[in-house]
Amino acid sequence: MTAEREIIGLRRHLRESGIKPELRGLICEIAESTKYVINAVRTGDLGLAGTSNLYGEEQLALDVLSDNIITEQLSKCSLVASIASEEKDIVESVHPDYKGGYSVAFDPLDGSSLVDVNLAVGSIFSIYKGDNILQGGRKQVAAMFVVYGPRTSLIYSAGEGVHEFSLNHLGDFKLTRENIQMKDLGNIYSPGGNRNKYTPEHLNYIKYLENKGYKLRYSGGLVPDINLILLKGEGIFMYPELIGAPNGKLRLLFELYPVAYLIEQAGGAASDGKQPLLDVPVDNIDQRAPIYVGCKNDVATAVEYLNGKE
Ligand code: F6P
Ligand code: MN
Repeated sequence: MTAEREIIGLRRHLRESGIKPELRGLICEIAESTKYVINAVRTGDLGLAGTSNLYGEEQLALDVLSDNIITEQLSKCSLVASIASEEKDIVESVHPDYKGGYSVAFDPLDGSSLVDVNLAVGSIFSIYKGDNILQGGRKQVAAMFVVYGPRTSLIYSAGEGVHEFSLNHLGDFKLTRENIQMKDLGNIYSPGGNRNKYTPEHLNYIKYLENKGYKLRYSGGLVPDINLILLKGEGIFMYPELIGAPNGKLRLLFELYPVAYLIEQAGGAASDGKQPLLDVPVDNIDQRAPIYVGCKNDVATAVEYLNGKE
């Protein structure tokens, strides 16, 4: 007879992993807010011309709605000192007097244009101690994302491993994978950016991957694309420098830092092509950077190609 597996919820998992009570509370608060976002994604405005809701009011775009939901939840939470949302591009002081609080940078609905075509999207969060949101990636005390796909799943790390939870029919996040680990080398590539804008160095690396027979996996949503690499435990996601866009497209504070933190915690690596992404200093909340993230050895080879290997 096989023993029944114990079902572990997010709160219990955080407690048993030894995460500080305040940080535990904040992670649960964030998880709570995403349940309302998934509801908005499932039932909200699909951008149909001239639509209004049941009450005849004009509907908000889903990314704005998601931002409102998360901002409201975090503003009510006494553990939060300041927040920054990719939607607004400003840092909001929530409880400026609260000592010992946290700052949260978040992308409320990443890949929102994919909702119309029914592909997976997500929310990303990055957490710092204190009220300064521009401390740099290494100072994150936790990062997490939630994927709104066929299932809703949550990945978090607070420095004690990377873990996946799935939302059940009762609206609770239950542990589905613990201590997710990346292999050293993979077989999947996820290349962002328009190929005819690639630099010669990046193009050489892409050709190398193609020659090695890497499988292409790119949905156009950062959260599901990273989730795939993390859960398969292999692969490399890239959004490179492009001709005319030396820093690529993706935002350091809202997208790259939390992704880099989670992948590093799972034993992978993340680079901007020159240095580990978590060491790239952030000066403003709008800052962008190229990204190469995934298996350690894949990222190392990418960096060699970017530095002139042929
Ligand atoms: O937030 C930006 C974003 O939508 C990411 O989710 C995604 O990885 C990227 O842009 C896709 O960019 P592109 O459409 O250029 O491939
Ligand atoms: Mn985004």
